[in-house]
Amino acid sequence: MIKFTIITLFQEAMEPYLNTSMMWKAREKGLAEFEFVNLREFGLGPHKSVDDTPYGGGDGMLLRCEPVFEAIESVKAKDPSAKVILPTPVGEIWNQEKARELDKNAHYIILCPHYEGYDERILSIVDYKISLGKYVLTGGELPALIIIDSVVRLIPGVLGGETSAEVESFSEGDNLEYPQYTKPYDFRGMTVPDILLSGNHGEIAKWRTEHSGKVI
Ligand code: ADE
Repeated sequence: MIKFTIITLFQEAMEPYLNTSMMWKAREKGLAEFEFVNLREFGLGPHKSVDDTPYGGGDGMLLRCEPVFEAIESVKAKDPSAKVILPTPVGEIWNQEKARELDKNAHYIILCPHYEGYDERILSIVDYKISLGKYVLTGGELPALIIIDSVVRLIPGVLGGETSAEVESFSEGDNLEYPQYTKPYDFRGMTVPDILLSGNHGEIAKWRTEHSGKVI
């Protein structure tokens, strides 16, 4: 079973997604486990502060080392094998191959930074730096959900049809899925390609291969 421990200040923003649809089903079936650690609990002083201003000046606040290290160490004390993922715009770009390669029987701690960034020394306890793309988000929560979703759906038993994840887009190199249609046959004058109604499975397979998209 894969396990994700999410260290965040905004558990309430993430829970609804993980409690819905396929992520909920994965947990119900015992195929994935999600756990939250509230970074605030490891905050400093009476205000449980987790951030501070940057040395050398500049805008915004940075996540401090102490709360982050202590939060991660509290998880690793129970499971030293857990690996730490940091969503960051300067990480390696996430893709389907990486989602497939991630060990589905391991425990991952995802540290969700917030504010303007984090103290560079935090990288010393990080195993994987992952970027979701060349744009900047306000925090690591959305990237964490995308990483979790793209990995969990590949676990056998999570999706309905056992072959869905294999046949689907990006599974074979960068081939995108072929166009698909369901009822009605004629929707506002847009009809379904007749080959798909022919019952000729060889021809249908050929058509699908020919019409598979390619990443540009
Ligand atoms: N945090 C902020 N922006 C991000 C991005 N593009 N990918 C991963 N983590 C991020």
